Amino acid sequence: MARSARTIAVLPGDGIGPEVIRAAVSLLEGVAEGSGEHFSLAELPFGGRAIDRCGAALPDETLAACRAADAVLLGAVGGPLWDPLPLAQRPESGLLALRKELDLYINVRPTRLWESLRDISALKASCAEKIDFEIVRELAGGIYFGEHRLETKNGTEQAMDVEQYTASEVERVARFAFQRAQGRRKHLTSVDKANVLATSVLWRRCVAELAGEFPGVAVLHMDVDNAAMQLVLAPQQFDVLVTSNLFGDILNDGAAGLVGSIGMIPSMSCGTGTPVFELIHGSAPGLAGKDSACPVGAILCVSMMLREAFGYREEALGIESAVGRVLARGYRTPDIARAGDSVVGCSRFAGLVRQELRESLKQMECYGWGV
Ligand code: IPM
Ligand code: MG
Repeated sequence: MARSARTIAVLPGDGIGPEVIRAAVSLLEGVAEGSGEHFSLAELPFGGRAIDRCGAALPDETLAACRAADAVLLGAVGGPLWDPLPLAQRPESGLLALRKELDLYINVRPTRLWESLRDISALKASCAEKIDFEIVRELAGGIYFGEHRLETKNGTEQAMDVEQYTASEVERVARFAFQRAQGRRKHLTSVDKANVLATSVLWRRCVAELAGEFPGVAVLHMDVDNAAMQLVLAPQQFDVLVTSNLFGDILNDGAAGLVGSIGMIPSMSCGTGTPVFELIHGSAPGLAGKDSACPVGAILCVSMMLREAFGYREEALGIESAVGRVLARGYRTPDIARAGDSVVGCSRFAGLVRQELRESLKQMECYGWGV
């Protein structure tokens, strides 16, 4: 059946952003190839390079294009060039502004250990169980968006960051997390610090109240310090986790260590406006321009976009199984390679995935290419 063209705003950003996003875009082209599918891509300035070119990390034209698009594909922002700037002018402020402007109050990061990457996981091989969970992080509130103040008072430097949540902010992200759990293994872990923080007391109460609407989902409330330990000790217990903006940011990187590299995980930020599919790693300035960065997270952002934003399930699955086969054949980019691996650059890795994708899609016969 013919599908309408999808418009995608592409924000490569800084450092390794442009090269891994190029790899991801080549997979979109792979999906379009021979299928009559059409993706209309518009590349826009964002982050540090936008500060240099346009004087703002999130230029007006970029925000307008994101609002008008069906989805946004976003690389990474930041770098040492812009580190001396005040917080509110740094490239990262553009990312926060985009999340706020589009009211993207949900961020989902599916975290799975690819079997062929078990040797680069921080886990001992003896903990050989499946790791496959999602962290749902509140993204448009909390301490990220509370008042920040850095000042000198009576000759003493002092600083303040305010964490604040309303019940409805907690409820809307928790509802999403319950729904995700319903579609998975029906287990939700809500992470907070209710033995110390007022925001967490509210968080826990709101999640507990909502649980009545989802009788099929088992809910466990866990303190964030314990959750950090459980992630290391027994990650296989998790299905969906839901937590605040700051706790989610921290737990996400811990989870990335479990699956071997922060370059392996995609993410979706969604809510009211256009969904944004964003890399979770930084701009890695030391790797930039060397064709050495692992593009798996970026490629999986494309499969996540296809599935979650456009409902193209076969194509998403096709990309994911293609990634799995390329990894299983021993191909690795230099940043994650070990002795004995077949080391290939970022662009070559993407080319291999694209070849495999072509095979996957043929086998699925979804475009009548025959088998
Ligand atoms: C992330 C990143 C961002 C965040 C930074 C770059 C502002 O760490 O998406 O996890 O803290 O949200
Ligand atoms: Mg982070």
